[in-house]
Amino acid sequence: MNSSAPNRLVIRQPDDWHVHLRDGEVMAAVLPHTAAQFARAIVMPNLKPPVTRATDAEAYRQRILAALPKGVRFEPLMTAYLTDATDPADIADGFKRKVWVAAKLYPAGATTNSQHGVTDIARITSVLAMMEKIGMPLLLHGEVTDHSIDIFDRETVFLERILGKLLKDFPGLKVVLEHITTAEAADFVRSHAPQIGATITPHHLMINRSSIFEGGVRPHLYCLPIAKREHHRLALRKAATSGDACFFLGTDTAPHFVHLKEAACGCAGIFNAPTAMQSYAQVFAEENALDRLEAFASLNGPRFYGLPVNEARISLERRGTAVPDSVSVGTDSILVFATEAAKQWTVGEVVPA
Ligand code: DOR
Ligand code: ZN
Repeated sequence: MNSSAPNRLVIRQPDDWHVHLRDGEVMAAVLPHTAAQFARAIVMPNLKPPVTRATDAEAYRQRILAALPKGVRFEPLMTAYLTDATDPADIADGFKRKVWVAAKLYPAGATTNSQHGVTDIARITSVLAMMEKIGMPLLLHGEVTDHSIDIFDRETVFLERILGKLLKDFPGLKVVLEHITTAEAADFVRSHAPQIGATITPHHLMINRSSIFEGGVRPHLYCLPIAKREHHRLALRKAATSGDACFFLGTDTAPHFVHLKEAACGCAGIFNAPTAMQSYAQVFAEENALDRLEAFASLNGPRFYGLPVNEARISLERRGTAVPDSVSVGTDSILVFATEAAKQWTVGEVVPA
């Protein structure tokens, strides 16, 4: 890191614009880690069964609030899981009543618990038209599901086949392309902003596709969209640290039990909540861009969603602290994404306004 870069910085408290909190005892174990760093988070709806109706989202939100550690302030921002059968009136009603702030489109079969997702975008035209009308953002898992397309190309093909047309057909629809992994996606978002924004995860800034096979198969680095070639990682670093308003923080923290990751058919997802801000701080430090971390982590997201920025502050110090290797849930455990780089930073307590 540049020797003139600060060893301590104080920024507005960040938000996480993409998390999987799960439910029940897993949620109780992982939620404190997200809530320790972030004021708000966009909560993904891919539970089993998925959060498809406003009443489901309301109940899930109450379970999250009830699972928060005492005295911790954290606002879950709920999302609707779109299916072929989604009712535009229910989407609009939940948005008007502030039950949910956005809807998530999983192409059916693209990833974990996406089997109830949308089989063809043409089937939800009336839902998208309604969202465009009421100003409700659409959050996209941007990969095609066609198995004849190479897994490393599925995001780029999604841009070509689906996303360009979607933005044209619904020019007033706000879209977030979640967890981008390619240089093409970063370019696409830049050139179609401000209609579209993108979240970028810590792991896609830190690993490339070779990391997944370093000395053997490393199931804990497997997530979807899968990490790509090194030049894509470098392009993502450039995008995240640019300060551009269309790029913002979204960890995609996605806990799975160790035995389900280390399996013949391991689950996709990386649990990074305990080390999220440490990882981002290290990336921004390496890119000599710590002065733009606040834009990425705390300003660009709220502006895109039309929400106020947080008034509380957190500090980040370049001083290593121990982070847990794993989080226990009964007799099971969930491994934490904790690179050596992430261990170089300490996240301070949240200081209220
Ligand atoms: O790696 C992933 N894990 N990607 C997703 O899109 C879903 C997530 C999960 O829910 O585990
Ligand atoms: Zn996700």
